[in-house]
Amino acid sequence: MVRLPAALPLILGTVWLVQGAIIWDGRAPLDYTPLQLDVSADPYLTVVKGSKAASLYTHLVGKDVTATPIWLERLHPDHPWPAYAKEQTLRVFIGNSSVFKPGSGQPQTGFRRTELIAQRNGSAAALKPIISSGRKAFHFSMLMETIKPLDLIHEYQVVFIEPSDGSHVFGVQLGPLPAKDAGYIKILDHSLNVIYKTPFRDAAWHNFAVIVDWDKSTLQVFFSPNERSLKPVTPVKPNPTVPKGEAGHGDFHFGVLKLPLVDPRDPPEVRDDVVHYGIQEGTVEGLMYSGVFIEDLEDGLSLGNTKTLAV
Ligand SMILES: *[C@@H]1O[C@H](CO)[C@@H](O)[C@H](O)[C@H]1NC(C)=O
Ligand SMILES: *[C@@H]1O[C@H](CO)[C@@H](O)[C@H](O)[C@H]1NC(C)=O
Repeated sequence: MVRLPAALPLILGTVWLVQGAIIWDGRAPLDYTPLQLDVSADPYLTVVKGSKAASLYTHLVGKDVTATPIWLERLHPDHPWPAYAKEQTLRVFIGNSSVFKPGSGQPQTGFRRTELIAQRNGSAAALKPIISSGRKAFHFSMLMETIKPLDLIHEYQVVFIEPSDGSHVFGVQLGPLPAKDAGYIKILDHSLNVIYKTPFRDAAWHNFAVIVDWDKSTLQVFFSPNERSLKPVTPVKPNPTVPKGEAGHGDFHFGVLKLPLVDPRDPPEVRDDVVHYGIQEGTVEGLMYSGVFIEDLEDGLSLGNTKTLAV
């Protein structure tokens, strides 16, 4: 596998290359610990996982895997590496034990899930109205886990804003084969139309920002590979099916949610119930994240490398 170089040690005075107003910062600080993951300390609610401690499913990889370069100071600004460490990359895994048991209802035996949910002061509910009003940019960067990669015969949902009806204001999807674009990172609108896709490549960060206009019900996607600054890759697209008002407000999730394959041994009437039925091989698989944050757009959209765009 191609290894990304480790980060340089933090130097005093190293700054984030972000100019906009961050309203929730999900970039794991260098001193954030596995114990904090286990107790759902801010900025992450870590309850969506299997029966084991959260830190067994999400690894804080410190300086070992350099986070996306676009928010970091770098030795040579024209090159992605080396960069000065400022955040920890998060390596999110699922295994066969990753069966989520919701507070009420049956364990979700059809899915395997490990997700981190944005929260503030220990409350995702408190953050929800703040991130679900006006216009907000949801930033995230994804890197392939090549030792334990995703198995693209399955469908994966890896980033989404989820209102209480279980729909997704927007979602990020990978798989499933034999679809020609199974190996693409796809951005889906609320009605599950693919509004942007880009191949998921090895050894490169894939940087995204999705602007949600909650008043006008629109989406716009920005993308860049590695150290390049974000660029718009879609026009502003209508997203009219999101429920209006509080019913459309959602929690911001990122991680790995793996859907099952249909099990021909299941009775036909339950085969659509992918939450509880279907085939899961129980393999260990992962995905890496960094640069996850939510930005208000009053000061513009941060594009990386200290650039901003008035949007
Ligand atoms: C979080 O807690 C701090 C300190 O207790 C308080 O000042 C702040 O208003 C709280 N924020 C929210 C969104 O509840
Ligand atoms: C995965 O877990 C389920 C129970 O949740 C079990 O029935 C199955 O045998 C396990 N599969 C593997 C490969 O361990």
